[in-house]
Amino acid sequence: MKRTTFNLALAATFAFLMFIGCTNNKTQTQEPAQEETAAAVSFEEVLKTRRSVRHYDSTKTISEAEVRELLIATQEAPSWANQQPSKYYVAMSPEKVSAVQELVGERNKQNVAGAPVLIVSTYEKGKSGFFNGNQTNEVGDGWGAYDNGLSNAYFILMARAKGFDTLIMGMRDSEKLRELFNIPENEAVMAVISLGYRAGEPRQPTHRPLEEVAQFF
Ligand SMILES: Cc1cc2nc3c(=O)[nH]c(=O)nc-3n(C[C@H](O)[C@H](O)[C@H](O)COP(=O)(O)O)c2cc1C
Repeated sequence: MKRTTFNLALAATFAFLMFIGCTNNKTQTQEPAQEETAAAVSFEEVLKTRRSVRHYDSTKTISEAEVRELLIATQEAPSWANQQPSKYYVAMSPEKVSAVQELVGERNKQNVAGAPVLIVSTYEKGKSGFFNGNQTNEVGDGWGAYDNGLSNAYFILMARAKGFDTLIMGMRDSEKLRELFNIPENEAVMAVISLGYRAGEPRQPTHRPLEEVAQFF
């Protein structure tokens, strides 16, 4: 009797293991699509195809969920003592987008005319580069700007990886943007970043020879 029970248990275990094996195989045969997608856009390709885009397809829109995904990517960026000083003010409604367009200078305004999203990037002062309110070295709030640039870099690269395009704009009216979004005084207003889809191929910049910018010792 005991032997039969043992055999039954053994058979049941075997059947269960077989079942697990089958479901695992099934999962494996269903998964490659994801791997292919990941492989389709390599990091190098993201770096090479990310360009400042100054002509956008105004027929395409971007959802809030898509922008959130890009902002979540910025949270992976390193920052001074993990201070995470960067903040983002996202203009998505047509009214807010056109209000921001008015504050980036005439040339930029024309260049980002078709972009559905414009984002103001700031950083909180007195965080990165400071311990207990004291500046730790000569760079001071420069570390906040540094962290903000890194955060922006994650944003624009993830945007490209997801098929979007961007333009970082340093030409902007920081005080009027501060008013528009109620940005507190303890935040430094940095770049405005457009987000959209390219209409045509962007200009390819030239790059300085490596010998001019790096020295090896
Ligand atoms: C901090 C910063 C400010 C910039 N400001 C502007 C701007 O106001 N208008 C503009 O058309 N491009 C602006 N750019 C884009 C640069 O001109 C561009 O990155 C550079 O020419 C290299 O081209 P690429 O981005 O296609 O590689 C800015 C870029 C950075 C990083």
